[in-house]
Amino acid sequence: MRRKVIAGNWKMNMLPNEAIDFVNALAPLVKDSKNEVIICVPFTDLFYTLLTVQDTNIHVGAQNMHWKENGAYTGEVSADMLKCINVEYVIIGHSERRQYFNETDETVNLKVKQSLAKGLKPIVCVGESLEEKEAGKTIEVITSQISKALDGLTLDDLSNTIVAYEPIWAIGTGKTATADDANDSIKAIRNEIKSKFGTDDISILYGGSVKAENAKELFTMSDIDGGLVGGASLKADSFSKIVNFDK
Ligand code: 13P
Repeated sequence: MRRKVIAGNWKMNMLPNEAIDFVNALAPLVKDSKNEVIICVPFTDLFYTLLTVQDTNIHVGAQNMHWKENGAYTGEVSADMLKCINVEYVIIGHSERRQYFNETDETVNLKVKQSLAKGLKPIVCVGESLEEKEAGKTIEVITSQISKALDGLTLDDLSNTIVAYEPIWAIGTGKTATADDANDSIKAIRNEIKSKFGTDDISILYGGSVKAENAKELFTMSDIDGGLVGGASLKADSFSKIVNFDK
């Protein structure tokens, strides 16, 4: 369902005590927001974070999972393991996982399907590299990625899915896509989803150097439904300003 969503991705940052302090600081700052607030935290923070968000409007996600049910996959975490402690969301296919951990369109699709089958809501990431952007291939790359990532989903699955467009060259670099460019890319993703499923009733977020200063311009564009925020999600103060971009 299309709605405004502001999701933080802590990546490999924050110890459990920092996660608890963060939630306690963030909760009063965002309690009146109509936007959905999600924090995607490291596995080791999940349990503490979930206990601390009780009675708040903050939702919790993981940053990855394996697509298999269980088995001899040392170091991996299954969808059931996340679901049984009440994790709600899971980021799938972040560009850092594609780049450093051999994530492919095929494994992204397997993970998306497994997460949904287990009752988790995937936040599916797509985005082009700098070389692809400079070669004029942005739309081709991101529409292909989203088509493959969502292959085989039902309409019900789609209603439990969030998409994030994160141009790789904008992640952690301080370079943000212009609001017009981000909107055009997200519109193309929306059109691809519409041609595949007959509906584009889905939240599509922008990610890549989102900060309090640029959130409003980006999130009020016609096709952008919020953000997936890295660096600026590590401090309750800066993240709350992004959540409250519409205040
Ligand atoms: P930054 O906001 O630090 O650029 O990270 C974006 C990102 O990768 C969120 O998933």
